[in-house]
Amino acid sequence: MSENLSSSPAAATNVQPSKLKAEYCVTPGASAGLEVVLSATALRKNYLSGSQRLEVLRGVDLAVAAGESVSIRGESGSGKSTLLNLLSGLDTPDAGSLLWSGRSPHPKDRARFLGMVFQSFYLIPEIDALANVLMAARILGVLGAAQRARAKELLALTGLVGRAAHLPAQLSGGERQRVAVARALMNSPRLILADEPTGNLDEHTGDSVVELLLSLCRETQTALVLVTHNAAHAQKTSRQLFLHDGKLSYG
Ligand SMILES: Nc1ncnc2c1ncn2[C@@H]1O[C@H](COP(=O)(O)OP(=O)(O)OP(=O)(O)O)[C@@H](O)[C@H]1O
Ligand SMILES: [Mg+2]
Repeated sequence: MSENLSSSPAAATNVQPSKLKAEYCVTPGASAGLEVVLSATALRKNYLSGSQRLEVLRGVDLAVAAGESVSIRGESGSGKSTLLNLLSGLDTPDAGSLLWSGRSPHPKDRARFLGMVFQSFYLIPEIDALANVLMAARILGVLGAAQRARAKELLALTGLVGRAAHLPAQLSGGERQRVAVARALMNSPRLILADEPTGNLDEHTGDSVVELLLSLCRETQTALVLVTHNAAHAQKTSRQLFLHDGKLSYG
């Protein structure tokens, strides 16, 4: 993917609009024949709160093909983050099955297969922005000049030139969010799960981050699941889904 990234410098707070081609868009019908990157069937998740059982997910089916982007909207508390945690393999469902590129998820595959932008970022506070992005490569055990160059390029693309040496505490909320986006893209994953990746960004920066995610995913045939409350961002994805009453539906 790195050869597709612009290396032109960006202003510290301006996200670089991607110059990548945007002609590729997969519809559910057209996705037949493409690799199914993510396949979830009848996922269920309950939480116990005291003596009460909360049925958050009540049978979620979702398939996402290579290069396809899917948005998920839903009310606060409807279970969007719960669903992404299951899709990431970080949490286990009470019932249902999950496949990553046709295989059962295995933790050792996660760093190569998956890039995640968490709702609360989960940056490592003791290391700077560049090192946080590079952490994805470190987990894979590949950390050389090419990875350093790519991490810097991703920081530039997310508008963070001049912030590479900042610790998370020295970044604004929106800047931290963009470091998390750059980290998710670092290993050129097959799938990106993004949980409200523009929640802390102003309108212009948020638009740019979503454009960047969408164009990189199209160009590199990466699948994207985008949880968002922003209707305009959702409309830009190949498919718009809603989570309601524990199930996914079309808008
Ligand atoms: N560990 C937990 N134990 C008990 N209940 C939980 C737990 N995690 C989440 N919940 C509950 O599950 C429901 C779904 O939470 P979740 O975080 O998935 O919602 P969400 O759709 O992501 O909301 P938001 O848009 O506010 O981020 C909520 O009602 C929440 O209170
Ligand atoms: Mg959430």
